[in-house]
Amino acid sequence: MSNVPAGVAALVGRNLHKQPLHPLNIVSRRIQNHFRDFKVFDDLAPQVSVAQCFDQLNVPQDHISRKPSDTFYLDALHVLRTHTSAHQNQLLMQGHERFLVFGDCYRRDQIDATHYPVFHQVEGVKTWRKGQVTDETVIEDLKQNLEGLTKSLFQNRELEIRWVDAYFPFTHPSLEMEVRFRDDWLELLGCGVIQKNILANCGREGENGWAFGIGLERIAMTLFSIPDIRLFWSQDPRFINQFASGEVIQFQPYSKFPPCPKDISFWIPELYNSNDFYALVRDIAGDLVENVELVDEFTHPKTNRQSHCYRIIYRSMDRSLLNSEVNDLQEKVRQDVVGTLGVELR
Ligand code: DAH
Repeated sequence: MSNVPAGVAALVGRNLHKQPLHPLNIVSRRIQNHFRDFKVFDDLAPQVSVAQCFDQLNVPQDHISRKPSDTFYLDALHVLRTHTSAHQNQLLMQGHERFLVFGDCYRRDQIDATHYPVFHQVEGVKTWRKGQVTDETVIEDLKQNLEGLTKSLFQNRELEIRWVDAYFPFTHPSLEMEVRFRDDWLELLGCGVIQKNILANCGREGENGWAFGIGLERIAMTLFSIPDIRLFWSQDPRFINQFASGEVIQFQPYSKFPPCPKDISFWIPELYNSNDFYALVRDIAGDLVENVELVDEFTHPKTNRQSHCYRIIYRSMDRSLLNSEVNDLQEKVRQDVVGTLGVELR
């Protein structure tokens, strides 16, 4: 029943956000400094129930995020949390009124420079007692807090910020914040007014409050100019030592080794999800895979069978790969994709 590969299970407990002078820790501390009177939870276990991760947050039964193609299930009733929102309910139930939850989160996803099966988030929550504030005041306070946080993180008072309407099942209204960074609008966080039924279910009937969720990697990659999300997991001193000052510095890439692209084409069976292929490649190649892209899709005009062609880019961040090594990985991918996903190679 579990779909957690050994490679992902091995990362549970690394707690990068708690490692002193790790860039994710530097970002976490800056966020904590901004919310000084908030209680900080940074060691809640990532193994949570389906109820915590989805049900208690109003996530619809048929929502894509619940599917085993997108989420790591430990068993039928437990998952590796897909977001730190999974702890909202328990902490509200305990009576907390202002808190931050930092933690590692897990999702089955594509493979590229900004996606990795493990990433980190902070969840923030602030509530008011019954009758103290209207939704409008809550939104005002939310925006003010998050704009202040963003400007302090980016150390820029002139930073251009815009708010975009969004949808999350656990907040209404819901918003996303985007900032203008190097000529692009960058989506930084999701937030909103906590749904009243969630507060009521937690014994907080009639109260009001806001919640937000921020991905820490996105912020750290932007602030420190870190080009690849795999680097956060690197134990190479050439990476980790650059952050010894605890300040926001510009990361100096120490090497760029040659990429080794390999294509693979196969006929896909009816029940097929690309995430299963990405997980398989990640499991075989670990951090030696940099990118997997669906480069061609084709439907046979007569048989109606569908074919996918993927380009896998193998590249290590700290050494040159041998041809034979890459060929072995690719051969293993070709074998396993037939053995476990039931595809037919072309
Ligand atoms: N949990 C959301 C995610 O992982 C992020 C989020 C959005 C958290 C809105 C919130 C919120 O608390 O109000 O994508």
